[in-house]
Amino acid sequence: MKPNVALDYQWMPFTSNRDFKADPRMVARSEGVYMWNHQGEKLLDGSSGLFCCAAGHSRSEIADAVHAQLKELAYAPPFQTGQSMSFELAQRVASLTPEGIDHVFFVNSGSEAIDTAMKIALAYHYARGEGQRQRFASRERAYHGVNFGGTALSGMVKNRQVFGLGLPGIAHMRHTWLPENRFVKGQPESGAELADDLERIVQNFGADTIAACFVEPIAGSTGCLVPPVGYLQRLREICDRHGILLVFDEVICGFGRTGKAFAAQSFDVAPDMMTMAKALTNAAQPMGAVAVHDRVHDTVMNAAPDAAVELFHGYTYSGHPAACAAGIATMDIYERERLFDKAAELSPYFLESVFALSDIPAITDIRGYGLMAGIDVDPGSNPPGSRGLGVQKRLWKAGLHIKMTGDSAIVAPPLISERTHVDELCGILRDVLSSL
Ligand SMILES: Cc1ncc(COP(=O)(O)O)c(C=O)c1O
Repeated sequence: MKPNVALDYQWMPFTSNRDFKADPRMVARSEGVYMWNHQGEKLLDGSSGLFCCAAGHSRSEIADAVHAQLKELAYAPPFQTGQSMSFELAQRVASLTPEGIDHVFFVNSGSEAIDTAMKIALAYHYARGEGQRQRFASRERAYHGVNFGGTALSGMVKNRQVFGLGLPGIAHMRHTWLPENRFVKGQPESGAELADDLERIVQNFGADTIAACFVEPIAGSTGCLVPPVGYLQRLREICDRHGILLVFDEVICGFGRTGKAFAAQSFDVAPDMMTMAKALTNAAQPMGAVAVHDRVHDTVMNAAPDAAVELFHGYTYSGHPAACAAGIATMDIYERERLFDKAAELSPYFLESVFALSDIPAITDIRGYGLMAGIDVDPGSNPPGSRGLGVQKRLWKAGLHIKMTGDSAIVAPPLISERTHVDELCGILRDVLSSL
C-alpha cells in the first residue's frame, strides 16, 4: 500500500530516492522502542532512529516542555541578547562533561558542531599568536557530518567524491579496523600504534602548522569501530607533545551510548573539545553543541579587547528556546531514569546477544561497545552497499529498523531497552541474516 502523499516533491537526504519512492518505508508514529509504519505495522527500533532517540520515541515530558516554551517564548535573538534556557542547558551539559570542559556553544546539528569546533580551534591558535596552525588531522572511515568542514575531515569516499576539492590542509590517519581484530568484543588489544600516524603527520607537515586532531572515540557511522586499548591515550600524548588540540566527536557516543555520559569518560581520555548533537535533545528538536575546555575558551576570551565580540561565529537558531526546553527535559529524563547506568547494565547482555550471531555465514565481522554494535554483511559479488540496502529492506519487512551504512548494520537500541527487546532484536537479525 502506497502512502497517501505525493512523493515526488521531496529530494530525500542520503536516500536512493527512486528506489525508495517505488516502495516507500514511512514512519507514521512512534513510542518507546517501537515505531509504526504507514501500513500500521509495528517495528522495533534497533538504531534509536539515527542513534538519537536515546530515551525512546515521542517522550511526552519533552513534548510538553517544548509546547510550554513555544507559548511562553518561541524565539529570542541569540546575538547580544539572551534567554535563560540556553544558560541553564549549558550548565546541565557542562555538569556531564569531563572536568575543565565547562563552556558550551550551541548550534543546530552535528555538522554545525564540527565546523564550529574547527573554527574555535583556529581562533584559539590565532589568539595564542600561532595563526599559522591551520591544518587538521582526521581519520579514514570517519564521519563528521556533511558541511564543508566535516566533509573535508570525513573519511568516506562517497561523501567527498563529487563535491570538489573542499577545504585544504586535512591529513588523514589510518582507520582502526584491523583484520586480526574481527569478532573482538569491546576494545581490541592490538592496534594502539595506529595512533602514531598522527606523529607521522607531524613529521610530514610540522607540528606548528596543525591546529587540531578530530576523531570519533568510536567511529559510529562506518560500523562501530571500537578504538584499540591505549589508542586514544596515545593520540592524547602526541597532541600534548605538539600543542595540537584533541577534539572528540561525540555526536553518536555522547549521552550514555558507551555506558557513561561521554566516551571520553568510558575510555578515560580527556579531549580539549567535544562535539555533540542527536541525544542532546533526544532528537525531539534539532540541536548540537561544542563543549570547550576552559583553557581554550579563556584564551579566546582574553585575547579580545574589552566589550569586543570574542568569536565572530554563531547561528540565528543557536540555543533556540524550544531546543533548549527539549534539551533540559531530556537531561531530566536521563537523570531521573539513570539511563547512562542502565545502558552500562544492559551492555554485557546486549553484546553477548549480538556476538552470538557470529555463526551466521553471511556475517564477516562483528564489533561492539556499550549499547552499540556493527555487523558486517558479506557483499558477495554485488557493488558495495547494494546487499546492505537489501538487508535493510528485509529487516524492515520483518519488523525491525536498522541503520545500514554500506554493508554494515549499526545496531544501537534506545537506552530504555530491556533484555526482552534485545532478544526480539537479535531474533529478527538471526532470521533475516541467516536467510541471505
Ligand atoms: C560522529 C558524527 N558527527 C557528526 C554527525 C553529523 O550530525 P548531523 O547529521 O546532525 O549534522 C554525525 C551524524 O551521524 C555523526 O555520527
